[in-house]
Amino acid sequence: GILILDFGSQYNQLIARRVREFGVYAEILPFNASLDEIKQHQPKGIILSGGPSSVFGEDAHLVEKELFELGIPVLGICYGMQLTAHLLGGEVKKGQKGEYGKAELKVLNSNKLLYGFSESSTVWMSHFDEVFQVPEGFEISGKSESVIAAMADESRKLYAVQFHPEVSHSEYGTQLLRNFVFDICEAEENWALSDFIEVEVARIKEKVGNQKVILGLSGGVDSSVAAVLIHKAIGDQLTCIFVDTGLLRKDEGVKVMENYGKHFHMNIKLVDAREQFLSKLKGISDPEEKRKIIGREFVEVFNQEALAFEDANFLAQGTIYPDVIESQSVKGPSATIKSHHNVGGLPEEMKLQLLEPLRELFKDEVRKVGVKLGIPKELVYRHPFPGPGLGIRVLGEVDEEKVRILQEADAIFIEELYKNNLYDEVSQAFVVLLPVKSVGVMGDERTYEYTAVVRSANTIDFMTATWSRLPYEFLDKVSSRIINEVKGINRVAYDISSKPPATIEWE
Ligand code: XMP
Repeated sequence: GILILDFGSQYNQLIARRVREFGVYAEILPFNASLDEIKQHQPKGIILSGGPSSVFGEDAHLVEKELFELGIPVLGICYGMQLTAHLLGGEVKKGQKGEYGKAELKVLNSNKLLYGFSESSTVWMSHFDEVFQVPEGFEISGKSESVIAAMADESRKLYAVQFHPEVSHSEYGTQLLRNFVFDICEAEENWALSDFIEVEVARIKEKVGNQKVILGLSGGVDSSVAAVLIHKAIGDQLTCIFVDTGLLRKDEGVKVMENYGKHFHMNIKLVDAREQFLSKLKGISDPEEKRKIIGREFVEVFNQEALAFEDANFLAQGTIYPDVIESQSVKGPSATIKSHHNVGGLPEEMKLQLLEPLRELFKDEVRKVGVKLGIPKELVYRHPFPGPGLGIRVLGEVDEEKVRILQEADAIFIEELYKNNLYDEVSQAFVVLLPVKSVGVMGDERTYEYTAVVRSANTIDFMTATWSRLPYEFLDKVSSRIINEVKGINRVAYDISSKPPATIEWE
């Protein structure tokens, strides 16, 4: 397949997904992977990604020059182009003002990479430094204004572009990547999700044999798809452990048993730990402390249950490719938030091997596999739900009554979103319960009850988000249903904060 070396650009996963959409397998390795490791992957081509670093910086992200001498085609993108120029004897200089956003690319010398480009086209730029002089053997293939925007040494199959072909704003970006993958690297189309299930089922059978597997089922997409896939391979040798923390959405436990227990006939051990979690959270109102307690408690409960399966040999997890990239990333794990359902500390004495059948898939691929496995679309396209659950949506101290109130309000909001065909239009929607009471009037009675906040966000990557512009009529319906149907709430507010500076969750 195609190997992408990660220099820290936010677009790296996009490059990999684009390549996979062509039916070619693509993997991401950190930029400092050794040459040996790179060779072991036997890539048909290597893409050097963009990144925030500068070749001038003291801590510049570099690669060994030998990378360009392996006879494997290389495509440098953005920082990858500057790096190529820098390492091969060209000249990079600090730009005057940089280029950000749309720019016009003029093709000066066409080549295999730019095949199909018109003389002038729109490309997406985001850089400060620029290549000033191309290395020996290279030819300038395109410019934007006075900046060198593309260069190539066709005899050595080395190519580089200053713009980002992977973003949709670059007019012939897909064409460029196709040219690289198929014409220059001569990669084969052999990555198809249709084969994935078949291949993976066979692989799981082979690996597991007649041994036993346990899996922590959360009800979320990743663990559910992993469970159904493994179940397809080994049936009753799989046991799922589902921990009801009492901090889940309304009737979640019942639904999980219905969907996966009854419908898919999976062995599921339902662990009712509701009281345990609530008692540990008693008196605690600090959000981070609540998170820690919930995370710790979860691991403890899960491990204790796992220990009961003395004959288990494997622990299955719904780890997906972004988790894998994240854990090996140069940026460290700070950028995204890990779910505690990916259980960390296993009971050592169990000596379990890991089984992670989704390790190579992106989220959208996991969803497609889920649908193919027959999991209802509604489950596969569910909004994300944080590991600590309602523990961080009941603001401040958590108790049973507040959780019940929140579950009911939340269920109404979600039900209305589905009814009005709005669920798939928003990225994440939920209700938050404030620990604040306010005065209201119902009938002839004065009320003094809690306030619920309805939150709905639209986002692509959950790093930035805007509040959903839901119709007033719809919000009106949600508000009156919550106030009328949920005992304990007499006021509903709609959160109109974007992220940043607010976050999606309230704690
Ligand atoms: P924020 O609130 O940081 O949330 O804008 C971004 C995304 O992360 C989810 N989130 C969490 N997920 N454990 C999780 O597994 C957590 O502690 C946690 N905190 C936030 C949040 O639901 C949103 O999708």
